[in-house]
Amino acid sequence: MSVAIVTGSSGLIGSETVKFLHEKGMRVVGIDNNMRKYFFGEDGSTEWNTCQLSESLKSFTHQSIDIRDSSAIDAVFQKYGKDISLVVHTAAQPSHDWAAREPLTDFSVNATGTLVLLEATRKFASEATFIFTSTNKVYGDLPNVLPLVELEKRWEVAESHPFHKFGIDETMSIDQSKHSVFGASKVAADVMVQEYGRYFGMKTGTFRGGCLTGPAHSGAELHGFLAYLVKCAVTGKPYTIYGYKGKQVRDNIHSYDLVNAFWHFHSKPKPGAVYNMGGSRHSNCSMLEAIDLIEKLSGKRVQYSLSEQNRSGDHIWYISDVRAFQYDYPAWQYQYDLESIMSEIVAAAQERYGA
Ligand SMILES: NC(=O)c1ccc[n+]([C@@H]2O[C@H](COP(=O)([O-])OP(=O)(O)OC[C@H]3O[C@@H](n4cnc5c(N)ncnc54)[C@H](O)[C@@H]3O)[C@@H](O)[C@H]2O)c1
Repeated sequence: MSVAIVTGSSGLIGSETVKFLHEKGMRVVGIDNNMRKYFFGEDGSTEWNTCQLSESLKSFTHQSIDIRDSSAIDAVFQKYGKDISLVVHTAAQPSHDWAAREPLTDFSVNATGTLVLLEATRKFASEATFIFTSTNKVYGDLPNVLPLVELEKRWEVAESHPFHKFGIDETMSIDQSKHSVFGASKVAADVMVQEYGRYFGMKTGTFRGGCLTGPAHSGAELHGFLAYLVKCAVTGKPYTIYGYKGKQVRDNIHSYDLVNAFWHFHSKPKPGAVYNMGGSRHSNCSMLEAIDLIEKLSGKRVQYSLSEQNRSGDHIWYISDVRAFQYDYPAWQYQYDLESIMSEIVAAAQERYGA
C-alpha cells in the first residue's frame, strides 16, 4: 500500500489532506504535536481533530512528533522508506503576529522543520512528491504598493492595472519588502523547497496560499480569521478588525479545493514548481463583506469594533492569480464558492459551540 506522510495532520489543511488521501486508498501517517495549542491557547487546540481522525480512519496512524526533531522524523521515514510516495508538509507556526513574540521558535518550526523534512525525504524516499504550503506573505507588503481604489465596502486594485482582472501572479518580487517575522521564515522554507526540486531534482511543489479556510479550522484570534469571526458571531464574543476601515480584501479557498489541487500536482509533478493558490476572483471578500455574509447565514449580529491601527505589514488587498496552476492542471476546478464555504463554517461552528 502506498504511504503518504502528512505533517500538521490535525490542522485545517493537514486533516483535510489525511481524509482525502485515505479516501484515495493510501495508508496515511500523520505527524502533529498540537503545537497550535502552544501558539494560540485552547481556541487553537487541534486535539479534537486528532481524536476524530484516529477514531474514524482505519489506515491512519497518528504520531505526536515535533517536526524539528530530526531523529524522530528520520525514524518515521526510515520505517516506511520507498513505500512513501507523497509527503504533504502543512505543519507550521502560521501567524504573522505570533511570530514576533518568539522569532526563534517561529523560524525553527517554519524553516528548520521544513529542512528536516526535505532531508528525510531525500534520504529515505527521494522519489516521493513533496508538497509545501507556503503563503502569500512571501511577497511581504509589496501588494500594498499597487494602485488601490477605495469602494464602499472594500479596497480594489485600479481597473487599469494588470493584476485587476485575475489577481497577483508569481512574478511579484519576494525581495525588499516588509514580510513580518513569519513571512521571512516562510520565505526561507519556500526557497529551500524550490531548491530541493531544482538542485536535487526532487518532485517538490510550493503552493503560496491566500486565505485557506474551512470548517475544520480551530479558529483563534491570531490565526484562521474566517473561522474565528464565525465563532465570535455564534458565541457573541466581540471581534476587533485591525486597520484599513475593515475594507481589506482576502481571497478564500476551501481546504478541500486546495487538497484536490495537491492531488492533481501529485499525479504529474513538476519539480521545483511554485504556484499562487487561493480563492482568486472566484471567491474573495473584505472583512465588512465577510461580516455581512456571516450575519445573513447565521442570523446573528457580529459584535465588532474597528481599530485604526493595522497589523504591521498586513495586506490591504490580496487576490491570488491561480492561472499558472490552472494552465498546468486544467482538470482541476473549484468545488466551493464564498457562500458555500461560509455556510459550512457557520454550520460547523453552530454544532461545535452551540447555536
Ligand atoms: N490558514 C491560512 O489562511 C493559511 C494561509 C497561507 C498559508 N498557510 C499555510 O498552510 C499551512 C497549514 O495551515 P493551517 O491553517 O492548516 O494551519 P493549522 O495551524 O490549522 O495546522 C498546522 C498544524 O501543525 C501543527 N504543528 C505546528 N508546529 C508543529 C511542530 N513543530 N511539529 C508538529 N506539528 C506542528 C499544529 O499543531 C497544527 O495542528 C501552514 O504551513 C500555513 O503557514 C495557511
